[in-house]
Amino acid sequence: MAEIVGAYFTSHVPAIGGAIARGDQQAPYWKPFFDGFPPVRAWLERMKPDVVVSFSNDHGLNFFLDTMPTFAVGAAEEYHNADEGWGLPVYKTMRGHAALSWHVIEGLVADEFDVTTCQRMLVDHALSIPFELAWPDAAQWPVRLVPIGINTVQHPLPSAKRCLALGRSVHRAIHSWPGGERVVVIGTGGLSHQLDGPRAGFMNKDYDRFCMDNLSADPEALTRDSIHEIVRLAGTQGVEVLNWIAARGALGPSARELHRNYHIPISNTAAATMVLEPA
Ligand code: DHB
Ligand code: FE
Repeated sequence: MAEIVGAYFTSHVPAIGGAIARGDQQAPYWKPFFDGFPPVRAWLERMKPDVVVSFSNDHGLNFFLDTMPTFAVGAAEEYHNADEGWGLPVYKTMRGHAALSWHVIEGLVADEFDVTTCQRMLVDHALSIPFELAWPDAAQWPVRLVPIGINTVQHPLPSAKRCLALGRSVHRAIHSWPGGERVVVIGTGGLSHQLDGPRAGFMNKDYDRFCMDNLSADPEALTRDSIHEIVRLAGTQGVEVLNWIAARGALGPSARELHRNYHIPISNTAAATMVLEPA
């Protein structure tokens, strides 16, 4: 039986990749954000995960507005990174765990989630930035990947309740996997931000705190708002919190918070980082 050892949540702002490339981690603008990561790295060192099951959204690299799966699960043996136009370096290729991906897909479909299966999938800054932050010095990523994409881009979006249920189904699938892998769940994106329209630059500290305060003990609290209400509270891109909610579901029934960091702004985003463990 695979073991879920914990969950790591972080914002995935592309400008973080620029700061890493320039070595700007200690610059005054960036330091409060990067200072949130030594505890994440120390925790990963202790946990020694073999596999990451990730929840994130594609930003136009695999799916554009004309073809948008609500839930897409990668089932490949490797995932190449590409830059959708931010001018970021191309990061290391991620090794997949296709057999576990198919097991997760079987579980999701048995639970009546009609997912899109992707035997080819590129990864964008939503995964490469969290990996760079977690393992900055790795010659090769130390984990194999099962990537799950949630549509947070093209309405209609799945409800927060549905995303939590999706995560819980993934939890059951990982739990029933006969291998002995140690699994870390990752949720990326958010927290509050809006990149476009009259509210560009919008952030909401109170809503972000509400999300972080309830994520471990009462994730249902994050599912009571409709998608339109979440967009109002978190911003058009802040709705990426759906990835956090699904990842929280995948962690399992009870959780405790080990670490959090929150800093406004990184680029246009209220940047948050958390680590949770099964309680
Ligand atoms: C920014 C944030 C994102 O989540 C993203 O995908 C792209 C850009 C930003 O704040 O600049
Ligand atoms: Fe994003």
